Amino acid sequence: MNEQTEKFTHRIRSFVKREGRLTKGQAAALERQWPGKGLQHQADGIDFDKAFGRPAPLVLEIGFGMGHSLVEMAKADPDSNYIGIEVHGPGVGACLMEAEAQGVENLRIFQHDAVEILQDCVADESLAKIQVFFPDPWHKKRHHKRRLIRPEFVQLMHAKLQHGGILHLATDWENYAEHMLEVMQGEQGWDNLSANGDYVPRPDSRPLTKFEQRGQRLGHGVWDLQFKKS
Ligand SMILES: C[S@@+](CC[C@H](N)C(=O)[O-])C[C@H]1O[C@@H](n2cnc3c(N)ncnc32)[C@H](O)[C@@H]1O
Repeated sequence: MNEQTEKFTHRIRSFVKREGRLTKGQAAALERQWPGKGLQHQADGIDFDKAFGRPAPLVLEIGFGMGHSLVEMAKADPDSNYIGIEVHGPGVGACLMEAEAQGVENLRIFQHDAVEILQDCVADESLAKIQVFFPDPWHKKRHHKRRLIRPEFVQLMHAKLQHGGILHLATDWENYAEHMLEVMQGEQGWDNLSANGDYVPRPDSRPLTKFEQRGQRLGHGVWDLQFKKS
């Protein structure tokens, strides 16, 4: 589907469907782990206490890629329930492989568009935290409309967070960082946790990725933003 037809048949998405083969290890992990950890989109909502087999604070990560941060954070915080959403199949396989290797059980995964999961499956005021790390920056100006962090999506995330819940964003693309800040500042009902009213230092809760370590050596910047629902 080209961009023009997509516009008329459906809303503009923040991702393009990529082909991608799972490695043997990812495919095997998927087969073993999906029955226990995989969740399907449901139009009439999901009871997450039931899905996890216990009530606990819910942390949601959108676009977890290969799931490195997600698995590490879930492991370090066993008293919370972690939900990951990713559309890319090999990423889902890689995440489940890692979760299995690390013995992480407080994790459930959707392979679906995060916008639809938030709209249809997640109850209002139910999430303790939402994290979106390094979302696709869509560098070209004519593609900026595809960026995940835009007013409507921020309003949707606001509705799903509990009062006092945290939205944590990170990007390595300065223009997107500025865009994120501008969008957040234009929205009601958020307190910026930055002392300067812009960015926060990387909190220890967000693991440093290999990609980021390399970037740091090359002098590239990373911008973290944290907002609390007031
Ligand atoms: C640039 S990658 C970053 C991955 C990871 N967070 C990291 O830091 O390495 C962005 C990811 O978001 C996923 N993504 C983009 N839009 C999405 C959506 N609407 N729902 C779920 N995943 C999405 C993409 O498939 C991609 O894997």
